[in-house]
Amino acid sequence: MNKQNTGGCKMNKIRIISIIAMASFFISFLVNINAQKPPDDPIKVFKDKKCSSCHSIKLVKIERKNKKSKAPDLSNVGAEHEPDFFMDWLLKNTEQSGKKHPIKFNGTDEEFATLLGFLVTLRDPQKEQE
Ligand code: HEC
Repeated sequence: MNKQNTGGCKMNKIRIISIIAMASFFISFLVNINAQKPPDDPIKVFKDKKCSSCHSIKLVKIERKNKKSKAPDLSNVGAEHEPDFFMDWLLKNTEQSGKKHPIKFNGTDEEFATLLGFLVTLRDPQKEQE
């Protein structure tokens, strides 16, 4: 009788351990899926990094938060600059008319790449016709 009981107890332990093992396998699986999530949405990065507090991009319906800001609308910025300009500009390594950008980009490499890739594409069809 006693022997059977301890036997049953061992079986339960094995069962519990295997359930935990399976659960942790599934959790690590889910974490992995998360790590492979698609790159950030550039508009989300633009807003998260507070670019939109100073800049509007009317082309994609982004309005700046700070209405008093003198920062230019960026709708046509991809047409106005060489692709190389943006990284240097946002890291404050270069100036325009004697001025540097007021803030330095602060974020991950992925976010920066997403943002730069987006800025170079900005072309306002209306401005191109003018
Ligand atoms: C504190 C306000 C402010 C914030 C925040 C800000 N900017 Fe600017 N930005 C400016 C101002 C002001 C200028 C114009 C500077 C000049 O030309 O001397 C400018 C210029 C630019 C230009 C060049 C525009 C042109 O026509 O030459 C780009 C591109 C740009 N900003 C992108 C960004 C991005 C991307 C972010 C977010 C990481 C950002 N800015 C955040 C104020 C800001």
